[in-house]
Amino acid sequence: MAEANQNIQWFPGHMAKTRRKIKEILPLIDAVCEVVDARVPVSSRNPDLAEIIGDKPLIIILNKCDMADSKKTSAWIEYYKQKGITAIGVDCKSGKGLSRFKDTVKESLAHKLEQYAAKGMVGKPLRVMVVGIPNVGKSSFINRIAKGNKAKVENRPGVTRGNQWFTIDKQLELLDTPGVLWPKFEDQTVGEHLAFTGAVKDRILDVELLAVRLLDILKEDYPEMLTARFGELSFESDSYDLLCEIGKKRGMLIRGGETDTERAANMLLEEYRNCKIGNITLEGVN
Ligand code: G4P
Repeated sequence: MAEANQNIQWFPGHMAKTRRKIKEILPLIDAVCEVVDARVPVSSRNPDLAEIIGDKPLIIILNKCDMADSKKTSAWIEYYKQKGITAIGVDCKSGKGLSRFKDTVKESLAHKLEQYAAKGMVGKPLRVMVVGIPNVGKSSFINRIAKGNKAKVENRPGVTRGNQWFTIDKQLELLDTPGVLWPKFEDQTVGEHLAFTGAVKDRILDVELLAVRLLDILKEDYPEMLTARFGELSFESDSYDLLCEIGKKRGMLIRGGETDTERAANMLLEEYRNCKIGNITLEGVN
């Protein structure tokens, strides 16, 4: 799924189609649940969602918490709380945090359930649309929560066959996004941050430049993790020299004793992605 999504080109026609499909579905749903990658909680959001969904309540799922910095995840949850938005941290790999999801939705939409009851629509389930840019773990999230419980299409008036509904329990139904959501791809930092996590293939970017950019952040925010992983480092050097130093420490040399920087860059990115350096969140609340 993630592999296929990485090849998607976000051309305007594609975006317009997704936007139209989401708008069509909005009157049928009670809330939108945006899955984001807790390691890059800014770059993994869709820049146009607020405008597309208008005043529909939003719930943010900070996924991949197992790989993120737990302090920063808590700070993001608090940040959203201050803004009146419910956010929860989950890990769809192990399922951690997911048990809170149903209650969180019902609590934040309690007024809706009351409204339905007041109108005599007791038993009408809450309907929530799940959205997210590719690779944030949206499919993993839906699979974990819904356990494959697809709802019968014929029970959904006004909803076309292409839309995939899941029954969670009597009070809650989820809808997978009709279409694919895009990141803020015109922003170079966003592209880089998504490439660090592997959401965007780095073969389309210069791997050494990417590693240097990653070191710019790590030496500022997580110097102790770099030291613990690679040994004493000269943090006053610029990030390219730091990459050379790290490569040298790993014996990645070419003739003449220079560092094989391409190998060092690939190693650094791979170790970051596999959490070997530590649990790192690249975007904090400012
Ligand atoms: P998408 O629908 O948003 O595109 O994402 P998808 O669920 O396909 O997940 C993308 C990748 O992220 C998958 O890895 C998936 O296993 C992984 N993933 C999803 N949620 C979590 C999480 O909470 N923690 C961790 N550590 N990983 C998560 P993959 O390498 O593409 O596939 P595979 O390893 O599952 O085979």
